Amino acid sequence: MGDILILGIESSCDETAAAVVKNGREVLSNVINTQIELHKKFGGVVPEVASRQHIRTIDGVIDKALSDAGVDFEDITAIAVTYGPGLVGALLVGVSSAKALAYALKKPLVPVHHIKGHIMANFVEHKELEPPFVCLVASGGHSHIVEVKDYTDIEILARTRDDAAGEAFDKIARVLGLGYPGGPLIDKLAKEGDKNAVHFPRVRMDGDSLDFSFSGVKTAVINYLHKLDQNGESYNKADIAASFQEAVVDALCTHTIEAARRTGNKTITLAGGVASNSALREKMTEEAAKEGMRVLYPSPVLCTDNAVMIACAGYYGYLNNEFADMTLNASASVRL
Ligand code: KG4
Ligand code: ZN
Repeated sequence: MGDILILGIESSCDETAAAVVKNGREVLSNVINTQIELHKKFGGVVPEVASRQHIRTIDGVIDKALSDAGVDFEDITAIAVTYGPGLVGALLVGVSSAKALAYALKKPLVPVHHIKGHIMANFVEHKELEPPFVCLVASGGHSHIVEVKDYTDIEILARTRDDAAGEAFDKIARVLGLGYPGGPLIDKLAKEGDKNAVHFPRVRMDGDSLDFSFSGVKTAVINYLHKLDQNGESYNKADIAASFQEAVVDALCTHTIEAARRTGNKTITLAGGVASNSALREKMTEEAAKEGMRVLYPSPVLCTDNAVMIACAGYYGYLNNEFADMTLNASASVRL
């Protein structure tokens, strides 16, 4: 079998991205056009603004992915695209482009679930990584613990009952007046603070569920600040950021390591935007080592939204004959 080149396309939120990946793990190009500056003044992603910007940039982003890779459309084996979950208008731009290309070029079309893409980023970063392993996927929209049993067989072990971890970071950053997106800003500020300054709650579900809940810690921080404000007391933002981050990171680590223990896995991987959090990487590595487990994570550019991860997932989908036809539609909420 000759080389398999997958063109990956991603447009589920505020990044327009395209990439060419060879044989699943070799990155030939990775183009990301981020809209962060555009949404900053609104304090978050505005769906309609995102859709319009995707339309403006997607053709150029795809062209650049091909030219950076030094290949032509004819060289591409198949086209992989994120079809959900995400903002439906944003997703539609990528899905329509991918369908048009697949139709015009007579190439197979591989639909990719966005969360699966995040998980697969680990295969690109760590060439020797093979299933099975446990993965914590934490982003702005999702927080799951999954077991990757095989390249196309993923079982969900736990999920969040309310807010996603990244969503909580973004909200607390806004409350602290730090800006958007909040995760990296809290991460940075927390380095100057004391993580033990305030003990915010960690929620554990009844029974043996490893599900997360982050709305409680979010409310606890907001109430805490509100009380201080009412009493006219000042506070150290860095201490609050560090203490909040510690509460979230603690829950993420405890539940994930417990999931690995229960399933008998010795490898834990991290994925999604929150996987670039330095405190999470550090604590997970430390705590897992005590259990004889290793922790792997992608470099930051492969943690946040990108198309390399979509092309990688598309490669394994291609090998597994997971093809879509021209009826493929964007889907705002679709289960893993
Ligand atoms: O995976 P991603 O780029 O988009 C989604 O699929 O949601 O994740 C974005 C999320 C945002 O909530 C952002 O605040 C968070 O990831 N994030 C972080 C860090 N970098 C990004 N959260 C905590 N620490 C970070 N360093
Ligand atoms: Zn994402």
